[in-house]
Amino acid sequence: MATRIVTLPGDGIGPEILAPAVALLERFVPDVKVEEHVFGGASIDAHGTALTDSTLAACQSADAVLLAAVGGPKWDTTDPDQPRPEQGLLGLRKGLGLYANLRPVRPLPALYDASPLRREIIEGTDLLVVRELTGGIYFGEKSRSATSATDVCTYSVHEIERIARVGFGAARSKVASVDKANVLETSRLWRETVKRVHAEEFPHIELEHVLVDNAAMQLVSAPRRFDVILTENLFGDILSDEAAMLTGSIGMLPSASIGDTDAPGPHPGLFEPVHGSAPDIAGQGIANPLAMFLSVALLLRHGLTLESEALALESAVDKALDQGLRTRDLGGTASTAEATEAVLAALG
Ligand code: NAD
Ligand code: IPM
Ligand code: MN
Repeated sequence: MATRIVTLPGDGIGPEILAPAVALLERFVPDVKVEEHVFGGASIDAHGTALTDSTLAACQSADAVLLAAVGGPKWDTTDPDQPRPEQGLLGLRKGLGLYANLRPVRPLPALYDASPLRREIIEGTDLLVVRELTGGIYFGEKSRSATSATDVCTYSVHEIERIARVGFGAARSKVASVDKANVLETSRLWRETVKRVHAEEFPHIELEHVLVDNAAMQLVSAPRRFDVILTENLFGDILSDEAAMLTGSIGMLPSASIGDTDAPGPHPGLFEPVHGSAPDIAGQGIANPLAMFLSVALLLRHGLTLESEALALESAVDKALDQGLRTRDLGGTASTAEATEAVLAALG
């Protein structure tokens, strides 16, 4: 049976970086059947909602989902009754049960000098942000009146246990569990639960608890000290954009979102760059497509268990950068098309 991948170009630079990513995917998976759906702002324009039932159903029955980015000024609103592109993304993550978001941060030696941080700070960094993705303040009850607003942050023991297992399972040596246990009740439950899962199931892994403000500081002062950073939804969102700068640009960071792969039935993962739709550079053909390409590599690895193909694509990206490829965000002049050609050439 053909491999079915649903692609969601979304908005802004999304379609510009997704098209060459699909070409790469077709090269590695010759029998792939790609099914594209409008999503985010484009779907609001076409259907009045950021994620239609039929798009969600198509994603649920796919082998994997490849998403570029959503959002943009056209749909920016502070009116809680208006649809927003980002609701599509949250609905998709929830609808596919993707509670674990993996964001590997592996600065390439070729880009050590492309970061605003000094080479000696970055050198040797190889960390993984494991972000809880379907709970916390993102999904709690919201309310709004003329004079106040609330966003409730809730975590259950079950939600913390399952993401903790992903974090410990992915660690080579140690986990830094990041919370705000000095202030937040949800963080105190997080800390207790992570401690228990550690003692009962992963005693061979080193565990430390780091308060989120301190973690933000240490990410840029001593990033090498981290292996796995295990954290809740909102903290993981913020810390991963910060960590992206260790690689030189937000345009370099891919992500994989996975759910309960032991459960019966299909469990497609979602693969997307960490960055957004970059409205400020959309339509100019200058977006860095490498985070998108590296998300294809994660799709090959985690979505289709094609490890050697994933490695081949990652090596081609490394090689193209070694040979001098630099898009504008990395201080160069290469266009999206030139970056694509460089990676294709490196693939041989
Ligand atoms: P952003 O990540 O889109 O852009 C931040 C900055 O990084 C901009 O200057 C942009 O030009 C640059 N940038 C991002 N990706 C780049 C790339 N591939 N190549 C070169 N430069 C790149 O964040 P933002 O501006 O805060 O958000 C814009 C919109 O994207 C918002 O609507 C937001 O909600 C949405 N967003 C979507 C996702 C997603 O779809 N997963 C993620 C983050 C933000
Ligand atoms: C991300 C994005 C999303 C998030 C937004 C667009 C809803 O910033 O994937 O990091 O906050 O999760
Ligand atoms: Mn984000």
